[in-house]
Amino acid sequence: MKAFWNERYAETAYAYGQEANDFLKAQQIGSDLKVLCLAEGEGRNGVYLAKLGHDVTCVDYAELGLQKTQLLAAQNGVEVACVCADLGEMQLEANTWDVVVAIFAHFPKPVKSHIWPEIYTALKPGGKLIMEVYDQEQLRFGTGGPQHADLLYSQEELQDLLVGDFKNIQIEKVYREVHEGTYHNGASATLQVIASK
Ligand SMILES: C[S@@+](CC[C@H](N)C(=O)[O-])C[C@H]1O[C@@H](n2cnc3c(N)ncnc32)[C@H](O)[C@@H]1O
Repeated sequence: MKAFWNERYAETAYAYGQEANDFLKAQQIGSDLKVLCLAEGEGRNGVYLAKLGHDVTCVDYAELGLQKTQLLAAQNGVEVACVCADLGEMQLEANTWDVVVAIFAHFPKPVKSHIWPEIYTALKPGGKLIMEVYDQEQLRFGTGGPQHADLLYSQEELQDLLVGDFKNIQIEKVYREVHEGTYHNGASATLQVIASK
């Protein structure tokens, strides 16, 4: 899969555009925060957050995505830290982040099982998870996202992944137009998630 992503990011154009995700932009998340963007690809969300003044670290396992993240940051006159790592194995430092962002972060089940407890641990008390992903129903729309149900999410799966530890969990299934670069285009079924530690 990593080779798939590097191949996609080898294109000159930004696969999901240079604008941040709509759901992320709609959040009021305070100022001057430490933000961790997971599976951040080419960095559109991280750069947006850095431009708001946050201290941003982007993680992805696709080196070419992170190179484009650095390029986008430089073009926008901001800095973001980039970490090249596999989220199926990565250990996150405890109580470190005010906000964790996971936009269209789609993984196989073993990676999902590993990373959600890590995210909880990594958030500071009161810290917030912000996430938008495709719902399994997205398979019938065919307007973007993985073509395998296991890589998509359902409300029930997210409740299982988040329940027990996270507080104030909001998981909303949304039907909306998504227009992000070349690969996310059209009517879509997503899950928009906010949760706190
Ligand atoms: C659909 S892209 C989303 C990129 C970005 N969040 C955005 O919204 O533009 C999914 C990203 O997940 C990354 N990814 C998938 N599995 C991963 C893993 N196990 N470890 C780290 N990154 C992973 C891919 O490299 C890819 O950049």
